[in-house]
Amino acid sequence: MTVPGLIQFDEWQDTYALRVETMRSSAVRDLFAAASRSDIISLSGGMPDITGLPLREVGEVIARAVLEEGVAGLQYGDTTGRLKTKQVVCDLMRDFHVATSPEDVLVTTGAQQALDLIGKTFLNQGDVVITEGPTYLGALQAFSAYQPDIHTVPFDDEGIRTDLLEEELERLGRGGAKFIYTIPNFQNPGGVTMSLARRARLLELARRFDVLVVEDDPYGRLRFEGEPLPCLRSLDDEVVYLGTVSKVFAPGLRTGWVIAPHPILSKLKLVKQGTDLCGSALNQVIVERYFNETDWRTTLTGACERYRRRRDAMLEALAEFFPPEARWTRPEGGLFVWVTLPEYIDTPQMLSVALENGVTFVPGDGCYPAGSGKGRNSMRIAFCYEEPDKIREAVRRLSLVIEERMELCRAFIAAGQLR
Ligand SMILES: Cc1ncc(COP(=O)(O)O)c(C=O)c1O
Repeated sequence: MTVPGLIQFDEWQDTYALRVETMRSSAVRDLFAAASRSDIISLSGGMPDITGLPLREVGEVIARAVLEEGVAGLQYGDTTGRLKTKQVVCDLMRDFHVATSPEDVLVTTGAQQALDLIGKTFLNQGDVVITEGPTYLGALQAFSAYQPDIHTVPFDDEGIRTDLLEEELERLGRGGAKFIYTIPNFQNPGGVTMSLARRARLLELARRFDVLVVEDDPYGRLRFEGEPLPCLRSLDDEVVYLGTVSKVFAPGLRTGWVIAPHPILSKLKLVKQGTDLCGSALNQVIVERYFNETDWRTTLTGACERYRRRRDAMLEALAEFFPPEARWTRPEGGLFVWVTLPEYIDTPQMLSVALENGVTFVPGDGCYPAGSGKGRNSMRIAFCYEEPDKIREAVRRLSLVIEERMELCRAFIAAGQLR
């Protein structure tokens, strides 16, 4: 029996594998339950706004997927994915000037599965992985199952600090890291985009130090300002590229892909066989038909326009309400803003107070490897989900919580009880 509020004795605690001990629950997933309360304004989840999807058309696509494809969508399929789905992926990648053929593609159950497959394929306990710091907490979760040593390199407005990356690689020596995991476009959680010069430099360093690059690009098409930049894969065909339909169509279809050099792809395929045999064929048929049979580009343009308005509302509210000591990023696309507060503010502690005040955010520490002690004075706030007036109200509520914490901390500092 589960007694609310009590820590349950776990009679199996000596039975679990060591890797489970270091696993942490995702703060965002935990917040989902709270965020569904009607009085709460959520700035926490990275859920795309799919309210603009043409549901009648999507319904017809789904019906045709069954009526016209017969049982194909209801049967087991190829581990690497359906040929037609891979062809759609190749068409999508052509927009990014990546020339691929279906043999270069592995269809996965979302990009999240690709992260897990990469961890499983490459990482032994203690292997070094380099990521931006902060980085996508789902990637940290996926990799941490394989007990690597995750080193983070900070970013600035131009993306990962390649000068610091070079120092890190020099310390580790040639081949000292298994791979660099990066999100060059509208990074999660940072919202920043890597400049062209930094992209070129990162690839140069990866070559020099013999490190694989894993490029995760769920947000590349969500640009609402400025000019698109070439993806790393278009600059270097040894890059492992992860894509997904989650932010351009629907996350519920759990369809993503990996583009990688053939030897890597065949290992990933082997690993995927043991994981789920194959992805959902039905979902793949729906994805194929959605991209081939609907005006998805217009639908996506509409979503980006909504994101732009919400980003504007968030930046305006931050400038109006947040204390002058706060700093934040200014994304040209994607879903997130990263806020840095004075060092003495502890955002994980602040979360419960924020919830009481009807607003949620993601505390920054979850976006760093467990135990690193980093990110505690920062937070990720998402502008994707709420309407502009609600975003403004949420930022106002958050600013009151921050002001209160700051006053409290200043009083402690004045009394010599906090440094
Ligand atoms: C950077 C990044 N990678 C991967 C994923 C997972 O995407 P998918 O829904 O395709 O599993 C997300 C989801 O938010 C993400 O932000």
